[in-house]
Amino acid sequence: MNFLKRFFSKESRQPRVNIKQRFELIGRVGQGSMSKVWRARDLNTGRIVALKVLHKQKTEELEARFVGLNKPKEGDIAVQFEHPHIVKTFEHGLTSDGEQFLVMEFIEGYSLSFLVEAQNEDMRTNCLKYMIQLGDAIQYFHNQNWIHRDICPRNIMVDNEQQLKLIDFGLVVPNTPPFLQPGNRTGTAAYMAPELIKRQKTSQKIDIFSYAVTCYEMMTKRLPWKAAETMEAVLQHINSPPKPIQELLPGIDPKVGDTIMKGLELYPQDRWQTIEEMLTPLKEVYQTQKTAVAQQQTETADSTTSRPAAAAPGKKRISEKVDPNSNRPRSAQKSDLTPEQRLRRRKRKPPVEGSSETSETQPQPGSSSGKEQHTSRKSTPSRPKPGNPDESR
Ligand SMILES: Nc1ncnc2c1ncn2[C@@H]1O[C@H](COP(=O)(O)OP(=O)(O)O)[C@@H](O)[C@H]1O
Ligand SMILES: [Mg+2]
Repeated sequence: MNFLKRFFSKESRQPRVNIKQRFELIGRVGQGSMSKVWRARDLNTGRIVALKVLHKQKTEELEARFVGLNKPKEGDIAVQFEHPHIVKTFEHGLTSDGEQFLVMEFIEGYSLSFLVEAQNEDMRTNCLKYMIQLGDAIQYFHNQNWIHRDICPRNIMVDNEQQLKLIDFGLVVPNTPPFLQPGNRTGTAAYMAPELIKRQKTSQKIDIFSYAVTCYEMMTKRLPWKAAETMEAVLQHINSPPKPIQELLPGIDPKVGDTIMKGLELYPQDRWQTIEEMLTPLKEVYQTQKTAVAQQQTETADSTTSRPAAAAPGKKRISEKVDPNSNRPRSAQKSDLTPEQRLRRRKRKPPVEGSSETSETQPQPGSSSGKEQHTSRKSTPSRPKPGNPDESR
């Protein structure tokens, strides 16, 4: 019966692509839990692309969890998006071996999980900007009636023009009643909303929770709850309040701190109701800071014109005065890059396979492993391990 279904299915009529003939595979850039990703040259167009080939068995297992619901495929979903902070997917299809593949713009840059670990100047300077860019991407996504279900730093990249891009749509489901029913616990444990962990009814608010965890981590380098080794442990401590971000960053703008903490509320009804609502105060603070920078620049220019030789006494550097993260703990302020990495970063070279700069190949010191350790409260940019099919996709 299954054989007959497959025989007459849309998939069976889809032309297969021999990816080894169609693409020059330049190098592996990453391995998620569900796929392999290459930097490749599309021999039809000559352009450099990211080629993502999904693991066949794991994808089938994931699809089987939504049996009867006709869950749209990652490629079908991804090609629809046109947004400056969502990776552009050009094409998708099936390989000669029947694996799903996606052809995307290649993002030259870094995984956000790398920047979270590094807490370098880029992260310190642009943290709020990146938070807003990510929020904008989620808002676009939610307006199109999807739920992402896997917002976390590993699924986000920042390119060399300092633009954030959401990259992974493997767990996306439509925001429609059949997909909101209690049951499937897919995602990355450290970022999963309590209602998802407890297998209760879900909504787009699970993405708001994951977004808040991501923002918290971007600002502090740590998660709002103590690391827990098992899903059971996560279940237990999710009922206790998260560590207030204001305790870690006493100088944080109160509006930013309160906004993030409200996104972490245990009960969805106490959280921000929409991502747009959550973004409003963040954008207000960002705007105020931008105005302050512009004002200071004008003042500095004026004082330089009147007293060209001497710096105005008692004036702080502009970046110090307005840096939203200037009250981070010292450990979080320090750049973790080696001098060699800093040099290469200054040259703005794209990450290449095997480069110690790519998030996938360079585990950060003291970090545990990645997405597939779904039970860990701490996800890191290291190479992932095989997944736990029950708790993940
Ligand atoms: N468009 C892209 N450009 C550059 N690198 C990418 C791109 N898409 C994915 N990657 C790399 O591949 C890794 C895995 O991709 P992802 O889509 O998250 O796969 P999975 O669904 O298996 O988790 C990412 O963390 C990133 O390092
Ligand atoms: Mg991923």
